[in-house]
Amino acid sequence: MDKLCIRGQNPLRGEVAISGSKNAAVAIIPAALLANDVVTLENVPHIADVANLVSIMRDMHVQVDYLDEHTLRIDSRNMVNDCANSEGVRKMRASYYLLGVLLGRFKHARVAFPGGCDFGVRPIDLHVKGFEALGASVTTKAIIEMKATELLGTNIFLDFASVGATINIMLAAVLAHGTTVIENAAKEPHVVDTASFLNSMGADVKGAGTDTIRIRGVRRLHGSEYAIIPDQIEAGTYMVASAVTGGDIKITNVIPRHLDSISAKLREIGIRIREEDDAIRVIGGGRLKPTKVKTLPYPGFPTDMQPQMMVLLSMVNGTSMINESVTDNRFRYVEQLQKMGANIDVEGHIAIIEGVDRLSGSEVAATDLRAGAAMVLAGLAAEGTTYVTNINYIDRGYEGMVDKLKLLGADIERTGGSDPVLRVIKDHAG
Ligand code: UD1
Repeated sequence: MDKLCIRGQNPLRGEVAISGSKNAAVAIIPAALLANDVVTLENVPHIADVANLVSIMRDMHVQVDYLDEHTLRIDSRNMVNDCANSEGVRKMRASYYLLGVLLGRFKHARVAFPGGCDFGVRPIDLHVKGFEALGASVTTKAIIEMKATELLGTNIFLDFASVGATINIMLAAVLAHGTTVIENAAKEPHVVDTASFLNSMGADVKGAGTDTIRIRGVRRLHGSEYAIIPDQIEAGTYMVASAVTGGDIKITNVIPRHLDSISAKLREIGIRIREEDDAIRVIGGGRLKPTKVKTLPYPGFPTDMQPQMMVLLSMVNGTSMINESVTDNRFRYVEQLQKMGANIDVEGHIAIIEGVDRLSGSEVAATDLRAGAAMVLAGLAAEGTTYVTNINYIDRGYEGMVDKLKLLGADIERTGGSDPVLRVIKDHAG
């Protein structure tokens, strides 16, 4: 099993370029299958979740070629509609987008149950309600099966502004008859990016980024060339990396507006932030103040930045609080930070953090993707050596994290092998 070995307390300095957004890529790559044509996607992140999607699609006879490390050509003209037994689907939650895509294109989908990071109950009932409202009959047994004679546009009010349900309903509705209106829609940057991509293929989606999205169904979509937005959470993670090490990092290829809630919190704590058009400089050091954080749907503070923020607050003198209001059970990793000396008390959705002077190196496990990133940040800040295990979680969503951190001056090594994502891509080279 690969591990990371980190010798901490080097202030990070220099420049780091952010990769394409994981959460946009895992929606846009399957969305390309709606076109029955050729789609070229640029700025595709080089991560395990993408490699997994590529294998799932190749198993469905989709021709997927890497034109370069970050550019995918997807030709779905000869695809077969079958991923009911796919192991790949069971490995990641975002494979749920195949449901909306296959229902939209074929009016029939049989998809294995999606897996993914375990931070509590993560149902997909809102997705299913949306598909049913569009006219599909849905059965969920060992696999999820959906059928419709035709899909008819309708009004759908989401009980919760779910990212997955908003995107999935959009995917199914772009080829439906009539107009679908999603109310209380999620507003995350990747929802907007997916809508822009669908429009680039000839869809008619308006209002993405607001509470109300209107999708006027079209008869068919065509091929397109599209570049995926930069990853908001990867950028946020490097922002905190600078903060926890008292560093000075310029983070390039970002959309600073997507980082507003993160920048605002870091500024409140005492971190200096300078924004440019497509870069952000984060300067740590100095006296930091404790604060309160509540995770919320966009534009609120992202739940995917909660563990990273926890690491920072665990080293800020005084009492801070984190209220996790988006997911059910996302504090499992706290036990790992406690091994490093963090003083954190969790009760239900609330964590109370008493800042300590320093964390100490230890062996800790990544319990999910963002918790894994948090362990790396803790290791970078800690005194002594930290070993992070279960790093396959980190590979799912962070492109070249070790190399990027090394360039910033971190003392970090991966033991046990080379870049496994590259291996997957090479093994499946088309
Ligand atoms: C997406 C992101 C994930 C992020 C999360 C919240 C992708 C691939 N993943 O996940 O990184 O942490 O948004 O910003 O984009 N819920 C239901 N029923 C549903 C759907 C959701 O009860 O049908 C509840 C669940 O408790 C779930 C929470 O809402 O944990 C958030 O769900 P949602 O916004 O849909 O997030 P995900 O699609 O799981």
